Formats: sequence, C-alpha cells, structure tokens
Amino acid sequence: MTDYSIGVFDSGVGGLTVLKEIRRYLPGENLIYLGDTARVPYGTKSAETVVRYAQQAAAFLWHKQVKMIVVACNTASSVALEHLQHSFPVPVVGVIVPGAREAVRLTRSGRIGVIGTEGTVNSDAYPREIHSLATDCRVWSAACPLFVPLAEEGWAEHEIARLAALEYLAPLLEQQIDTLVLGCTHYPLLKNTLRALLQPEIQLVDSAEQTALTVRHLLGDNDKLLTVSPGRCKFYVTDVPTRFVRVGSDFWGQPLGEVERVNLPLLDEK
Ligand code: DGL
Repeated sequence: MTDYSIGVFDSGVGGLTVLKEIRRYLPGENLIYLGDTARVPYGTKSAETVVRYAQQAAAFLWHKQVKMIVVACNTASSVALEHLQHSFPVPVVGVIVPGAREAVRLTRSGRIGVIGTEGTVNSDAYPREIHSLATDCRVWSAACPLFVPLAEEGWAEHEIARLAALEYLAPLLEQQIDTLVLGCTHYPLLKNTLRALLQPEIQLVDSAEQTALTVRHLLGDNDKLLTVSPGRCKFYVTDVPTRFVRVGSDFWGQPLGEVERVNLPLLDEK
C-alpha cells in the first residue's frame, strides 16, 4: 500500500523541527506526529528509560499502520534506534546517521563539534557514527541543556541564549572545529544565535534537514513516495495539548491545527 503515513515521534514539541523539514521535502506525504509530552524531557533520563519510552511511542505509530517510523528525537535515536529497528517491520530512521554523514561530507579539517542533550552526548552516538564513516575525523561534544528551555520559551535569539552559547561552545572552539552538528531537535531554532558567534568558515549541520532528505531518498528508492500535494498532518500528544499547541506553532512555523491527546495503552508497560 502506498498511501500509508510517515510516523514521526519525539519526546515533545522539538521533533516538529524534523517534521517541518519532512513536510518541506515531501509535501505530498501524510504525516502522523506523536509528542510524548507526558514524559518529556528524554535528554536527562537514563538510556534504559528512553529505550522503553521510545518502544511505546513507536508501537503507537505502528498501530496507526505507518509505512515508516522517524525517530525525530536525538536522544531516542542515540540509544533506542537499533531496538526499534529490530522490533518493527517497517523502516525506522533516526537523526544521528544523517547528521553524522553530512558532518563528514562537510568537514575539511576533520575536526567536528557535536552539541546535544546530556543523554545524546553521554551515549557517544554521534562520535561513533562519525568514526565509522571516517576514522581520521576527531569529534568533541558538549551538552547544552539550557538550549531546550530557551527555545521553548521563545528566547532562542535572546541575549541569554547568546551567553549560554558562548559558555557551551568555548571548549569546542578551542579545538578549532570547522563543523558543528546541531544534535538536538531544538537547536535549529538557535541557528541565528550560533551563526552570529561562530566564524563564518564553521559549517552548521542541521540533523533535521538531513533526516528529511534521508527519508525522501529511502521512500523514493522503494517507490513509496507520495507526490499528491498537500499531505495531511495529524498530531498526537500524551498530555493535555495546551502547551504543545502554543509552543509548537513556533517550531512548526504556523498554527498546528487539531492536536489529540492519547493515553498510550502501552505507557506503563515494561
Ligand atoms: N527531543 C530531544 C532531543 O532531540 C530534546 C528534548 C528532550 O530532552 O526530550 O534530544
């Protein structure tokens, strides 16, 4: 069947940056988005917990008969992707490989910086992937936990964001990186702030955009791409939608429309 939707999930609102890129590159696709707002953030939780949450979120999408599952959350992609790929008989795409691949393609000096949540940085998923693609690259990572609340507060371009970025990036800049991977759903909103701080020769890698390109590539190769514009978009959250609707419109770039709250039947299952 070629009319099934693409399912996308994230810990909350942040994955809308990935969904937006998928919408941009695949405007004819029907999309189903699940934000696990009852349990956000994933970035500060243990890998074991995030794997469990991710399994439940993916199972929800699977029951909606999606043709592909996109793990928009960097933290969940870092620790749960392989589990999900073994659990569901549809392609499961994460954001780490597309971002790592683009970083390797762009770097000239082989000196790459990665920023993300604590969970993503602790998992070492980006460095592992980058090294598997290019053994001679060197990678330095920094967790930037304040970026998530700043983006959600609408302060991505505020002076506070600039000061936080200065602190977080200092150790990476000391290493003279020439490429910086934005390894978190929220960081594309901080692009202008980061760009203003970084020398122009440092390239920014937006994992969200690279993931959308990967999805298009995979669906195109399998002849499963829908080209009838515009596709539908349905949003689900696991807590009351009020905050998701408000904050989400900034991430999505327009009002979200209908958002449905769901109680995942599998929410408390091991
Ligand atoms: N979506 C998460 C990520 O990309 C950031 C928010 C969270 O910690 O849940 O890692």
